[in-house]
Amino acid sequence: MIALTLEEKAALGSGADFWTTKAVGDVPAIVMTDGPHGVRKQLGSPDHLGIAGSIPATCFPPAAGLSQTWDPALVERIGAALGDECRAAGVHVLLGPGVNIKRDPRCGRNFEYFSEDPLLTGILGAAWVMGLQSRGVGASVKHFAANNAETDRMRSSSDVDPRTLREIYLRAFERIVADAAPWTVMCSYNRINGIHAAQDVWLVTTVLREQWGFDGVVVSDWGAVTDRVASVAAGLDLEMPPSGGATDAEVVAAVRDGRLDEAAVDRAARNVARLAAKATESASPAVAFDVDAHHALAREAAGRAVVLLKNDGDLLPLRPDDSIAVIGEFAQSPRYQGGGSSHVNPTRVDIPLSEIGALAGSVSYSHGSTADAVEAALAADVAVVFLGLAASDESEGYDRDHIELPATQLELLEAVVAVQPRTVVVLAHGGVVRLAPVAALAPAILDGALLGQAAGGAIADVLFGVVNPSGRLAETVPARLEDCPSYLNFPGEHGHVLYGERVFVGYRAYDARGLDVTYPFGHGLSYTEFAYTDLELSGITVRLTVTNTGTRRGREVVQVYAGLPTSTVARPPRWLVGFADITLDAGESGTVEIEFRRGDLAYWDARLDRWVVEGGDYVISVGASSRDVRLTGTLAVDGDDVRVPLTLESTLGEILADPVAGPRVVAALSSAAPSGLPDSGGLGTDIMRMVADIPLGRVVAFSGGRIDRAHLEQVLAEANAAR
Ligand code: GLC
Repeated sequence: MIALTLEEKAALGSGADFWTTKAVGDVPAIVMTDGPHGVRKQLGSPDHLGIAGSIPATCFPPAAGLSQTWDPALVERIGAALGDECRAAGVHVLLGPGVNIKRDPRCGRNFEYFSEDPLLTGILGAAWVMGLQSRGVGASVKHFAANNAETDRMRSSSDVDPRTLREIYLRAFERIVADAAPWTVMCSYNRINGIHAAQDVWLVTTVLREQWGFDGVVVSDWGAVTDRVASVAAGLDLEMPPSGGATDAEVVAAVRDGRLDEAAVDRAARNVARLAAKATESASPAVAFDVDAHHALAREAAGRAVVLLKNDGDLLPLRPDDSIAVIGEFAQSPRYQGGGSSHVNPTRVDIPLSEIGALAGSVSYSHGSTADAVEAALAADVAVVFLGLAASDESEGYDRDHIELPATQLELLEAVVAVQPRTVVVLAHGGVVRLAPVAALAPAILDGALLGQAAGGAIADVLFGVVNPSGRLAETVPARLEDCPSYLNFPGEHGHVLYGERVFVGYRAYDARGLDVTYPFGHGLSYTEFAYTDLELSGITVRLTVTNTGTRRGREVVQVYAGLPTSTVARPPRWLVGFADITLDAGESGTVEIEFRRGDLAYWDARLDRWVVEGGDYVISVGASSRDVRLTGTLAVDGDDVRVPLTLESTLGEILADPVAGPRVVAALSSAAPSGLPDSGGLGTDIMRMVADIPLGRVVAFSGGRIDRAHLEQVLAEANAAR
């Protein structure tokens, strides 16, 4: 980057227009655009809500569907395909993946996020980034951070304790930065503990750059900058969209009058210049992408994303000679993506009714709004009823206030099942819906969440067994909204959202509270069955044998959860530490080996401000879901050495429990107190329990001057040194 003036450097820190950065000196302009499941390249008037049109592009399954594949290799292939489409469109940075945690099912943008679990989110998000960037197109991991509601999203403060932030809301970003080196990270609109993300120096510089080693560009969400000077100082590199030069001038003025260190402006300009160079040097000339091949990939991914929630009596797969009554508007007008900035103009859309017709012998269709559906269901061998949420029910920009399916849909289902017991429900929704009433009625349920433009073909493939479903839920389906851990703290009020449930998000909460759920995290059936045997644990490697005990080839997603019953901090009974899939023919057995990371056993110790792996016997649960545990084992782990410095604010209980400090302090107190202070075992346990939480320094106050504070401090200092 040739020597630039202060004005030129400041100019590099904001865009040229809605989607491009500035060309300054020898720094070229680059194009950024949405979005996570398809390229939203606009030619006309730009917007960040998917209002104006965009060029045709493949609409792959949005994250809510894609995550149900639990297939990083497939996600990486989609990232690469998106990279090819970006190059064809002349896009240098694609604004995704969205990796915010699904804290509450009512969040209007959950369709664009992967999971309630940070490990699944991190692994799939990293795969997406690696795929995209393998094509020389940059990712923009978003929205950093704790952007888990749409209500008041540009002002509201996510009030989260340090441990919860690290273990739940930052964890996926941390893994993606470490594993996939994203070219950019996008700061979210919201505040975190009162500070806007774009100007949060702790978040953007201390954590992201210094602790995680991120060396790319930090770009704002579109319109997320409230104070450009403070943001540049905090670590923001690029403000989007631009302010027409106004904030560039503010940066120059702030440097000139000493309110902003020019080094911060240099850093931002340097990072933007490096991004522009990397994005343009690797960009081959625009080449058309293979529309049919990408549609086929979208159909493959959608088929793998379908979750078979229920299949009583092996009603599925359907037989080609079955006469089928297809019911519901979504069979003709499929719901396959979400609303807002991620909205894609698809190259084509598979219509479920047509795709079913291509595989079935006899098909009838009823919209379902009148009672003809019941007659059709009665006359057919099987009824296939499409239910779900309309585009207007959920979107970027607003949240839902309930998780119910429309009452008319449930009434329709009830009327159909009453005359046709062989009824299959096919669901389309971005956020979770309460499924207890559906499960009570329908013997078979397919859940595709949102499947992208090939949804229709994928659903037909699964209905007829062309694809044996292997999808797994990436979000719990709760029995009631009221059971959700965030129920009383969503969407917040007066500019604040309190994350009062702490680390207990999703299955972590339902398991800790022993709550029934309609379908658990990780759940998904198959048209065949699998047995798990021969579990071996060697360190952080889990090995087992999986056997296909059914009658057809299938894919199984084996999940590994860890738990520590003796943990010294509040933890869920189990949390996901790894997973892997295996595809087996009927009767075939195979070995699955899953190596997880010791760091995924850790909790964040806010006292020490670092990760801590506790010692102890971890329960390793291997299963087909978070609640379908097939094998368990015990893993003995040597923990980290955790020495919290002892001070006069340390309690008697903490001090007496320490093998070095305890005896020394007892000796010091005994010499001053007439009856002495025996070790914790000496006092009757009731008395000890009463005094255990008294900070040592307060004992001085009770001693009537007999205990010397300075002496105690000296004893503690020596003990700390000797520990
Ligand atoms: C939107 C979204 C963000 C998107 C950006 C550009 O408001 O929050 O995800 O990438 O603006 O459209």
